[in-house]
Amino acid sequence: MRFSNQGWIIPPPKEPSKSIEEFRKEREEKVSWLIRHGYLRSRRIKQAMLKVAREEFIPPLYRDYAYLEVPLPLPGEKATISCPHSYPLFYEPLGLDKGHKFLEVGLGSGYGTALAREIVGEDGLVVSIEIDPLTFEFARKNLENAGYKDIILVKGDGGLGYPELSPYDSICITAACIEIPLPLMEQLGTGGRLISPVMEHGVQNLVLLEKSEKGVKRKVICEVLYVPLRGKYGESEE
Ligand SMILES: C[S@@+](CC[C@H](N)C(=O)[O-])C[C@H]1O[C@@H](n2cnc3c(N)ncnc32)[C@H](O)[C@@H]1O
Repeated sequence: MRFSNQGWIIPPPKEPSKSIEEFRKEREEKVSWLIRHGYLRSRRIKQAMLKVAREEFIPPLYRDYAYLEVPLPLPGEKATISCPHSYPLFYEPLGLDKGHKFLEVGLGSGYGTALAREIVGEDGLVVSIEIDPLTFEFARKNLENAGYKDIILVKGDGGLGYPELSPYDSICITAACIEIPLPLMEQLGTGGRLISPVMEHGVQNLVLLEKSEKGVKRKVICEVLYVPLRGKYGESEE
């Protein structure tokens, strides 16, 4: 075991040995666990988590750990695939649903992107931005291999958002911000929601923002532990 720079205990790399059937069973057990523990409630998120094979988004030497509650390393600088429970933890309060135009900042492995694609369905749209070129290429291949051809993938600084396709119904930032980047708030539509880990008083809080004509409502959901946001609105890279 080793500790990641975020404080998680990462299991040792090993050659993959599990069969497709073993992974399918682990996936079903994980979905039942997420429901029992109150993370997973909505039908569309549950169906997406049953459908998308998380192991296909993980580097071979960590693949056997796909359904453990730990983030696993990805190619690139400080990139990880988040723990399985993180996805309903973010997507349930976001109210991610059929037909949404969804923007993700931090593509990582592409797993959360694939889940979002399944949730928003054919009437919706998914845009995902990744700053690290190595991580971007890893996710692009994973999504292509898994058959996702209609997701808009952008290589660049997600703090700037993707104004070309705004406004968005929901925005998810998968790295910890010092404060929510202003361009993302501007690209969030009225009635839309944004969720993000935010560094506050030495901890990271998962913060949900809801934008209405009257202003922005803010709610702290729980404490979390994420890699820091990079780029213009991130921590200094020195
Ligand atoms: C916790 S990982 C994302 C996990 C991802 N959702 C998944 O399912 O694998 C956070 C990602 O955010 C990326 N990132 C950090 N700062 C970024 C920025 N300013 N713009 C875009 N991506 C960024 C990191 O390179 C990393 O890949």
